[in-house]
Amino acid sequence: MDQPRTPPDTLLVVFGANGDLSKRKLLPALWNLEEEGLLPGDWHLLGTARSEVSDEDFRELARDAITEHERCAFDEDRFARFRQHLSFVSTDFRPGDTQVLSDAVAHATRRFIDDPQLLLYLSTPPSTFGRITAGLGEAGLAKEARVVFEKPFGTDPASFAELDETVHSVLREDQAYFIDHFLGKEMVQNLLAFRFANGAFEAMWNRAHIDHVQIDVPEDLGVDNRVAFYDQTGAIRDMLVTHLFQVLSIVAMEPPVRLRSGPLTDEKFKVFDSMRSLAVDDVVIGQYDGYRDLEGVAEGSGTDTYVAARVHIDNWRWDGVPFFLRTGKEMADKKQLVTLAFRRPPATMFPEVPDSGLERDHLTFDLSGGGAGFSLLAKVPGPALRLGRTNMRFTYGETGSQLIGPYERLIHDALLGDRTLFTRTDGIARTWELVAPILDMGDPHPYAQGSWGPEAANDLIAPRRWHLPQDPDRFSLPEI
Ligand code: BG6
Repeated sequence: MDQPRTPPDTLLVVFGANGDLSKRKLLPALWNLEEEGLLPGDWHLLGTARSEVSDEDFRELARDAITEHERCAFDEDRFARFRQHLSFVSTDFRPGDTQVLSDAVAHATRRFIDDPQLLLYLSTPPSTFGRITAGLGEAGLAKEARVVFEKPFGTDPASFAELDETVHSVLREDQAYFIDHFLGKEMVQNLLAFRFANGAFEAMWNRAHIDHVQIDVPEDLGVDNRVAFYDQTGAIRDMLVTHLFQVLSIVAMEPPVRLRSGPLTDEKFKVFDSMRSLAVDDVVIGQYDGYRDLEGVAEGSGTDTYVAARVHIDNWRWDGVPFFLRTGKEMADKKQLVTLAFRRPPATMFPEVPDSGLERDHLTFDLSGGGAGFSLLAKVPGPALRLGRTNMRFTYGETGSQLIGPYERLIHDALLGDRTLFTRTDGIARTWELVAPILDMGDPHPYAQGSWGPEAANDLIAPRRWHLPQDPDRFSLPEI
């Protein structure tokens, strides 16, 4: 996790290279990495999928993906060089039918002076992971390769166990890279810096000082062109058991002995191990009005487009401190906030301070905007000792820093063979166990598009309240 280094020459094979994720994230990430000088001295991307796509079509697809991506500055001369690194082979890769891809890999390898390292990226639906991995074994492509798997990893404990078995029959654990892009976000890593590089925060990061924690990721987007995937998946599998749990593990873990893959992943695992399995009473699921009318959604679909959960961590640091997690589609706003609300001070010198937890002091990390804030109570200027709310903030935007995107960060780590920010299979297996009791909860609560989700989620957190929306009318104390 330290200084940028140049990865060794690499042949990157992307399965599902003409798909949505590749267009939105992977191709733009490679373009940006190249601009930042973080790609290997020599590299080649061999895309593959079932569809018939020529090299030329794939390069044009890459051009569109890069020009449409808001973080990419397109440059025609640069693209003329970039496109030479791209080629495509159409294949229905599966055990018994691996020759086409093996030949294409051998052909692409001959472009390099010395044999490159092989990085394989499965940007395909989770249902294909098992057969692709088995095919890699059969084709002899897995020997020294690293293989990146995109979430969700399975759909329940049993399907993950099956995938895990296939993966381990073909790959060593250190060859399998289970990616969760939230761990690549600057502010998630900044949580580590805040906690472990400062003398102040870690001292109060425990049950003696923290009343509760919120990890809140509302989204204002719907499921758009992802209905086929989403209707089979839902918010618990798409977001809760993956991104939100991973962020929770970073917030809750004990200090690792070193910021290296083994020690960090061990500490994250201990958090999952001490989490209580989620009970139905600790969870509210919702579905936005109009979801069932979308083309492709199964009739009467019970898919959750929203989930709010109360999580308990039964260890010395967090006993009695609830973690409230929430995410949903078609909500009023898009935000990604982690909030730690501090306990009420013992004396009651200021009875006017309400007890919701969030009109008092709290620390907030904005995972999407790249900032953090410390909200405090202070005296309103004037003759009386009256309290108001104020905020100490920093944002990377204001410092002019350029943030590296999560996919850039994680692809670069995979190229270097740095597993620190990837998830380990024992942890994934444990997270599936934790959500097993809520995977079949029955009918979700309906909620209006553009709202903050079902009312039942307010009961779940009461007497506390959700930090969002940060509407000034909700506060009884004035802002200073
Ligand atoms: C993805 C989920 O992994 O993360 C999406 O499948 C979600 O449903 C997305 O919208 C959120 O990612 P980001 O880039 O907004 O942090």
